[in-house]
Amino acid sequence: MRLDGKTIIITGAASGIGQASARRALEEGARVIGVDLNGDGMPDGVEPVIGDVTAAATIARAVETAGTIHGLGTIAGISRSGVAIDELSPEDWDQVFAVNVKACWQWLVGALPSMRAAGGGSVVMVASQLAFGGGRLNAAYIASKGAIVSLVKTAGFELAPDNVRVNAVAPGAIDTPMLNGSMSRAEDPAAARDYSRNRHAMKRFGQADEIANGVVYLLSDEASFSTGSVITIDGGWTAA
Ligand code: NAI
Repeated sequence: MRLDGKTIIITGAASGIGQASARRALEEGARVIGVDLNGDGMPDGVEPVIGDVTAAATIARAVETAGTIHGLGTIAGISRSGVAIDELSPEDWDQVFAVNVKACWQWLVGALPSMRAAGGGSVVMVASQLAFGGGRLNAAYIASKGAIVSLVKTAGFELAPDNVRVNAVAPGAIDTPMLNGSMSRAEDPAAARDYSRNRHAMKRFGQADEIANGVVYLLSDEASFSTGSVITIDGGWTAA
């Protein structure tokens, strides 16, 4: 029960890594407010707040529902992979950055007054192994994940006096609807899956729970000396 007595907001709680993180947080004793575009897929026991993470009104509703906030996982994300860097539309670039970067900052700012009043808190964001290695046909997404690496460093530094820790996990390719969507947009989806799987030292995709375990650790007091850090959980992708 590593999160016993904590109230935690998880965005993207209806699918993939956010869903697994919400379920693991519940198992560890937390009260979980889940935020997503719709409630289907949210684990039983999650208190749903339905809305777009980029909307100030969604943040306000979640903050009000939570009351005291001890933890925040900004896990909702989108990808526009499969598009050449010079064919990506400015609208898609902006949308990726709005969800993957700006919303993470907005949610942190929204949760901050409550965390400060509680004497501290933990914020966990989701970067990607691709922030360290690059990749093709995915410029906006990969740049957005690089921004998360920098955001947790600056926020972790700035908010340390408030006892608010800010960290990220950097997953490898994880078997979720997002990964399946990205692969299906490749020219040869089967070949793309094989290439991506074998690019990991462990020659497999990760499971959402393997990232959720890292999220739960960073949300818990076991990570009391971690801030401004990025934990890579990537089956050896960056090592290979
Ligand atoms: P997913 O597509 O399975 O789940 C993402 C969830 O976020 C969905 O439930 C979706 O409805 C929600 N969402 C998206 N835009 C939203 C918005 N504007 N407002 C509210 N909810 C919104 O994706 P997955 O794979 O679980 O990804 C979660 C996070 O992990 C993302 O930030 C992603 O970039 C990151 N990540 C995923 C990797 C992978 O291989 N699956 C690898 C590295 C990072």
